[in-house]
Amino acid sequence: MNNISQLISLLGGTGVVAEKLKIQPSAVSNWKKVNKIPNNKHQAIYELSSNLDINIEKFFPEKKPINIDTSKVKILLIICGGIASYKSLEIIRLFKKSNFELDVVMTESAQKFITPLLVTSLNEKKCYTDLFSVEDETKMNHIKLARNPDIILVAPATANIIAKLANGIADDLASSILLASFSKIILAPSMNPVMWNNLATRENYEKLLDRGIKFIEPDTGDMACGESGTGRFPEPKLIFDVILSYINENRLFVNQFKNISIIITAGPTIEDIDPIRFISNKSSGKQGFEIASELTKRGAKVTLITGPVNIPFPKCEKVIEVTTADEMLDKVTQQLPADILICSAAVADWKLIPKTYSNKDIDINNKIKKTSDNLFFEALENPDILSTIANSNLRPKIVIGFSAETNSLKKNAYSKLISKNVDLIIANDVSNNRVFGKDFNKVCLIDKNNCEQLEKQTKKSVAFHIADKINDLLTNFNQ
Ligand code: CTP
Repeated sequence: MNNISQLISLLGGTGVVAEKLKIQPSAVSNWKKVNKIPNNKHQAIYELSSNLDINIEKFFPEKKPINIDTSKVKILLIICGGIASYKSLEIIRLFKKSNFELDVVMTESAQKFITPLLVTSLNEKKCYTDLFSVEDETKMNHIKLARNPDIILVAPATANIIAKLANGIADDLASSILLASFSKIILAPSMNPVMWNNLATRENYEKLLDRGIKFIEPDTGDMACGESGTGRFPEPKLIFDVILSYINENRLFVNQFKNISIIITAGPTIEDIDPIRFISNKSSGKQGFEIASELTKRGAKVTLITGPVNIPFPKCEKVIEVTTADEMLDKVTQQLPADILICSAAVADWKLIPKTYSNKDIDINNKIKKTSDNLFFEALENPDILSTIANSNLRPKIVIGFSAETNSLKKNAYSKLISKNVDLIIANDVSNNRVFGKDFNKVCLIDKNNCEQLEKQTKKSVAFHIADKINDLLTNFNQ
């Protein structure tokens, strides 16, 4: 008998399970056949098992994070007040058992159900409760608590904390942390079904979803208050598994680039011809910004030096705005030394100097008039930022360039790798308006030994691959 057949028979057999879960017996038979229960039925199975003496964990072996050192993943658990508060003790146990770095904050209402002392002894660490604590202020104030974690899990999340977060209210430690944080916020609500379905809660929920906050949906069934409906706190193991899946899906490489300083150039540069005319290019800055954002997520200290763009700045250590190629080179030089330089900017290769064949002086501080006879432009080459830094004595350990090509992509990109003395070239075909301004990119990662062609994908996902590649380069460099 396989594992799942054994579990089904412990739960009362195929017919009982099918009836309790309101599904066809053939579906349960199929689970037994494939020895797997679909993820969306785990919660229901947990509940069926809760009144029986079944070691359910034996049948749902704990998922392990893939290739991730859990001791480097920082979780902040915020426990709010509700009947389900006591269940968060099991969540603490699961995080501790898997070696996560865990801090716990409790709201005042949570302390009516469980005590900070209990949490402290389980977590073997101080449990934070006060916004205005003289002792905590010096060591771990709410800003530090907000900035430290990779994930903030609010479990149970009450209607009250959801409303506060949706409306920017910060009147205690938990709500202030949520407002001051850049971390991924995951809420596991638990409340009376009428509160959960109240229009105010629905609107707050939608607002938070729009802002990228993740919900572990409450369960449906009988509530401790005697009513039934949606609002039950999901089983702690299920919440823990959702967090693990999130970490695995996002391959949360926290601190992978800790203490690594990275300069990234992005966007176009603009060279004025006169006060109203200029030469530039179609670069949107999107790819460079995505790289800055991904490397920041992985713990790098990123300085982004960008030409004029129309997209929001990513979260990173510092953003410096420039206009011309000369300014960009100046700013990059000022930010050195750094460990890594990534030049994704589409630098205007020339300044255009207006001239006339009769050698008449042209005043470029004023608008050039059509009357200027026989106007032409002399192209004055701009400095090559990438090549200048890669060949200087302040050369970062790793230097990466892009190669925007409309033909002979790999050949041209490889010759830039050599001529500019860089470690990696990210080559893309920019013909037919395929890349500039778009959300997708198809690139080839070229170093001296390899040429790795990536599928067409979002610029965000390209940034993810580039970050992985940089990690390989760093590892090789340090060996
Ligand atoms: N680059 C730079 N400074 C310049 C020109 C380019 O730093 N003045 C960098 C870009 O940021 C990119 C790489 O050099 O990382 C290649 O840029 P690209 O525009 O593809 O090529 P160019 O060097 O300008 O050569 P060409 O225009 O002849 O293809």
